Amino acid sequence: MTKVAPSLLSADFSMLGDEIKRIEAAGADWAHLDVMDGAFVPNITMGPPVIASIRKVTGMPFDVHLMIQRPERYVKQFAEAGSDMLTVHVDAGGDIKKTLEDIRDRGVMPGITLNPGVPVESLDPYLDLVDLVLIMTVEAGFGGQSFQDVGLSKIARVREYADAQNPRLEISVDGGINRETGRRCVEAGATALAAGSSLFGAADMGREIALWKAYGPDAGR
Ligand code: DX5
Ligand code: ZN
Repeated sequence: MTKVAPSLLSADFSMLGDEIKRIEAAGADWAHLDVMDGAFVPNITMGPPVIASIRKVTGMPFDVHLMIQRPERYVKQFAEAGSDMLTVHVDAGGDIKKTLEDIRDRGVMPGITLNPGVPVESLDPYLDLVDLVLIMTVEAGFGGQSFQDVGLSKIARVREYADAQNPRLEISVDGGINRETGRRCVEAGATALAAGSSLFGAADMGREIALWKAYGPDAGR
């Protein structure tokens, strides 16, 4: 079953606790939390205090996507706030290898991600250090953008690596995911789909999530 991770970026921030319960009731596997610092990306969202607050209302895994410069500075805070997965951009600066090791040492699943314009080969030095690879199919920073096909071949390449080296690797996709683009990503080898606008805009989020979950993965994977 494909995992589905609704992005809280599309939620009503005045009632985040209720929104997270809503995605849980709709059958979501993870809550995708987008952290933006106004420097790595031109937008600002939430930080550790918000994550710690919503941690109190749910046990569902928090898939935290850090769009911040030099994330090594904040691993401790995000781990202590209750993150289950911490994903950093490969070009976020600082010592990425040490950052990923620090995340794992704190009992959190390390993840690496890259924007559409960043070559997939840039992940190679880090693939052995992560439990999750997040392929961005829009430029990080804002919800509601259109899916970029360039992500599909990146998913396929990471799928090849995972099949050979780490079959449990989660390959997630983020940006412009809807019923159709999500299906194409799963066919290319993704195991998880993060999405904001299409899930929060769906007439029936539960039905939408159930449809996506039924996509792949292929038998035996
Ligand atoms: C964008 C964020 C995404 C965003 C996706 O920088 O990383 O998680 O919420 O939004 P949609 O699904 O609307 O493209
Ligand atoms: Zn995201």
